[in-house]
Parts: sequence; structure tokens; C-alpha cells
Amino acid sequence: MNNFFDLIEKRESCRNYSNKPVEKEKLISCIEAARIAPSACNGQPWRFIIINNKELSFKVAKCIEDLVMNKFTEKCPAFIIVLQEKTDIKARIGAKIKNQDYSSIDIGIASCQLCLEATEQGLSTCIMGWFNEKKLKNLLNIDPSKRIRLVISIGYSADTEIRKKIRKNIDEIAKFI
Ligand SMILES: Cc1cc2nc3c(=O)[nH]c(=O)nc-3n(C[C@H](O)[C@H](O)[C@H](O)COP(=O)(O)O)c2cc1C
Repeated sequence: MNNFFDLIEKRESCRNYSNKPVEKEKLISCIEAARIAPSACNGQPWRFIIINNKELSFKVAKCIEDLVMNKFTEKCPAFIIVLQEKTDIKARIGAKIKNQDYSSIDIGIASCQLCLEATEQGLSTCIMGWFNEKKLKNLLNIDPSKRIRLVISIGYSADTEIRKKIRKNIDEIAKFI
């Protein structure tokens, strides 16, 4: 149990990357952690595109630093693009009947597992929801009808200290009845 909390305390959004390259095996391990994540009706509504190439990563950063946001990505050596895939009919009907967006929930869970595995591997990540989707799709030749839901920067942090987590108190977010 303690080890699990050590891991989730260690995961933080990294906005300062070193130029150390990322080993492909570590990226595969992160994708494996996402692959085995739970999802509604086991629909697995995700695909991952991994960019681990200095020149292309810089071009990806240029699509993420939209307005004043996400400038830090220019120094990031690798990215994982998280695409939403259509689920099977069962998951789609379930979502419609229950008026729930299961795919977004599923993608969030898988991305979290991915980031925690990255932390376990000594890597640092930042989940990003702010990017120029159209520019990114053009750059990476992604079908315009697909949705890019998240971009995850991944690399070695140039920082040594872990920040203290700023969060709401437990009594603000949970009620035992
Ligand atoms: C769905 C989602 C979208 C996010 N988008 C961005 C983003 O575009 N840029 C950024 O710097 N951080 C982004 N973040 C990171 C959050 O700001 C961060 O998780 C939060 O402030 C808590 O900090 P921590 O991750 O260091 O614990 C995003 C996080 C999530 C889960």
C-alpha cells in the first residue's frame, strides 16, 4: 500500500524536461499499462501514437503551444497522442441509455495508468488537453474525422524536487454516509 502512495505522490505534471532521450522499451511499458486499463463494456476506445524523434517532437510541440499555453513542450523529447476510437455497439448503446460519456472516462483511466507506469520507469509526464487539434492531425496524418483527446508529454525531468500536491481536503470531496 505504501508503495502505491509513494508512486502517486511522485507523479506530477512535468513542465521542465532534460534532453535525455527516452528508451523505447520504457514507452512500450507505458502503453502496456494503458492497454490493460479497465473500460466500459471493455470497449477500449483508445489508440496511441508515440512520437520519440527529436525533430518530429519539436514540430508536435509547435501544435501544442497554442496561444500562451504549453511553451515548455519545446524541450520535451517524446509525446503520446491519445486518440478516441469508436467503441463497439454495446458500449455505445449503454452510454446512450445511461446518458454517460464512457469513452472520456475510459481514456482518462488509461492515460492515468500510462502516466503512473512512466513514473515507475523514472520518467515524467504532463497530460495536456490544450492543443491545436487540426494542426496536430495535419502534421501526423491523422484522419480528420478522428478525435485527439489528449497529448501526453513524456521524458526525463530536469527538476530534482517533487512539488507538494495542492488539493481540496478530503471532507470537501467525500461524504461518508
Ligand atoms: C485532462 C487534463 C488536461 C490537462 N491539460 C494541461 C495542459 O494543457 N497544460 C498543462 O500544462 N497541464 C495540463 N494538465 C495538468 C494539470 O494542470 C495538473 O494535472 C494539475 O494542475 C495537478 O498538478 P499535478 O499533475 O502536478 O499533480 C492537464 C491535466 C488533465 C488531467
